[in-house]
Amino acid sequence: MDSEILRNTAKMIITSGPTREFIDSIRFLSNPSTGRMGYHIARAGINIGYKISYIHGPVPSRYRDIRDGKNIAVTSTIDMLNAVISELQDNSILIMTAAPADYRPEVKFEHKLKKKDNPEIKLVQNPDILLSVQKHIAEAGLKNVTLIGFAAEMQNAYDYAYSKLIKKKLDLIFLNDLSKEQSGFGVETNELTVIRKDNTHSKWPVETKEKLGYQIVEEIERWLQ
Ligand code: CTP
Repeated sequence: MDSEILRNTAKMIITSGPTREFIDSIRFLSNPSTGRMGYHIARAGINIGYKISYIHGPVPSRYRDIRDGKNIAVTSTIDMLNAVISELQDNSILIMTAAPADYRPEVKFEHKLKKKDNPEIKLVQNPDILLSVQKHIAEAGLKNVTLIGFAAEMQNAYDYAYSKLIKKKLDLIFLNDLSKEQSGFGVETNELTVIRKDNTHSKWPVETKEKLGYQIVEEIERWLQ
């Protein structure tokens, strides 16, 4: 599809940052994602001319509010899933940059636990957002939804990322090789490889997350052309 038409018809939904799963009234399970990559994709999307919904977990204030976009703050993985489902419509491009927590405590203690409580915490699995979304797309009969994933891997990076693309039925997956010093959580840059559904891939040089935001949006546009 012509980029101009795409920009006028598609809605980009970008998730960003970690989620939190509370154990008691103040303690939680989470991860060190800052939301920086998702923020820059959303900013690039807006600047290029897309309608954006930016769904973020608890991220630093500078990665919270996208000017001219719809900003939705969530806490848990289930909150994020519900927000994604409520934003999805025909012609959506869902970009799952977030690092949602895969597990949550089965029980949340209402008060702050005391040392003497010595609790045993049983974890249960959270839903996979990308897989749950596909069920919703089929049930709601949504048309032309593009699914983009991210994979942060330490070893056998390409193989793991490709198997996620297949398992989660994605159009594209951006692999972030965490074994590389200039890639990953909290750093300014990333070294990304884009892997496409047709099993072609391109390895990109190290670049700032700000510039990568534009490269990612342009890659998605090329894929949809
Ligand atoms: N993802 C998701 N729902 C989750 C966890 C992850 O939709 N509960 C998305 C992420 O946003 C990302 C992609 O799935 O785009 C891959 O995330 P990753 O954590 O690498 O995959 P997992 O399926 O959780 O696999 P792993 O066993 O390696 O943690």
